[in-house]
Amino acid sequence: MTTGMTIIGSGKQIPADWAKTLIDEQAFAAEQARLGRKWNLLGLAADAARDGDWFRATLATRQVFVQRFGEALRGFENRCAHRFFPLRNEDKGNGPVVCGFHHWRYDREGRAMGVPMCEELFGKIPRDLGATLAPVEVSVCGALVFGRFPAPGETETLEQYLGDAFPILAAITRFPEAPHAVETPVRANWRVCYHITHDDYHQVAVHPKTFGKNGYPRREAMGYFRFGLHTAFLSTPDPDAFNKLAAGCRDGAFVSSHYFIMQLFPNMIVSHGRSDGQFWHVLVQQYSPVAHDRSLLRTWSFPSPFAARHPRHVRWTRPFTDPGRRLAVRYFVGKIRDEDHVVCERVQANAGRIKTPPMLGALEERIGWFEENYARVMADSIN
Ligand code: FES
Ligand SMILES: [Fe+2]
Repeated sequence: MTTGMTIIGSGKQIPADWAKTLIDEQAFAAEQARLGRKWNLLGLAADAARDGDWFRATLATRQVFVQRFGEALRGFENRCAHRFFPLRNEDKGNGPVVCGFHHWRYDREGRAMGVPMCEELFGKIPRDLGATLAPVEVSVCGALVFGRFPAPGETETLEQYLGDAFPILAAITRFPEAPHAVETPVRANWRVCYHITHDDYHQVAVHPKTFGKNGYPRREAMGYFRFGLHTAFLSTPDPDAFNKLAAGCRDGAFVSSHYFIMQLFPNMIVSHGRSDGQFWHVLVQQYSPVAHDRSLLRTWSFPSPFAARHPRHVRWTRPFTDPGRRLAVRYFVGKIRDEDHVVCERVQANAGRIKTPPMLGALEERIGWFEENYARVMADSIN
């Protein structure tokens, strides 16, 4: 039997058992343990803006929460050290970390410092109990909060990890208005869903009335880029386009002029596209893994904060035309997403019968890059 097949697009190998985590819960859990040590998107900094604010999130299938203590943002697994009750039982809120089961109270370091009847019942003072929450390292880029479970050897800062995507994310998440948030469950493994976001070959068949109506994209008119564990596609043939985008975001001079999409490892997508004329919008998305065969797509959409080349009269009409434009973007994004999810769910239904690697063409080259990065991370030892 074939153990690996050359990927046409990248010349690299994907193992024949690449789909094991789509059907095998243990393989999926081992994968998630590795991915949870990388920087993952948790949520919006605005949800932990004031002292005492907290929000709940999922990090590699484990529930966590992020909380502001004065200047500091802290993250913890959402599980009391006493008898494992979830400390946070809503999506967000404000207030001290006090468990609802027996009222243990935790400080900003995650130490149980308030324990009712502690000396009588445990024979020591709270400090000597040594009860602590499992910590999550948190870091911010622009309006977004990222987190990872601490692990030996994982010392890269978020800025180092994201590389050139860091200034781009910082600039693109200067929301001109609160983003519109939607969560969409999909009955498919996150990796199947993530692949389709890297795929510039399916539009004609899957999105015939929108992306696909002009036929297949020409590979030579597009730029594919990779940096660190991440990749990007810019719809311009300029080989320097990605550097220019990062530099323009650093110095504030970037002007919207073409579509681009970045896939940030492990499961985040940032895209910048045109709704009509020179009206640009941004999507920040994440395929959050739920189980080996289920994911949750989180989407935040908002108008692009970048300058664009608008004709002068447009400035006057925007207050009247923008609400309709927003609705049109939401409709369009939802339609594309639903068309993609039908495909992902059908591939997932075949997952138990996948025994060979995919055959990737030049418009799927970035799937090969992603899989190569994924294989590198899966090869890490876990202790
Ligand atoms: S489980 Fe949290 S205080 Fe008992
Ligand atoms: Fe698609």
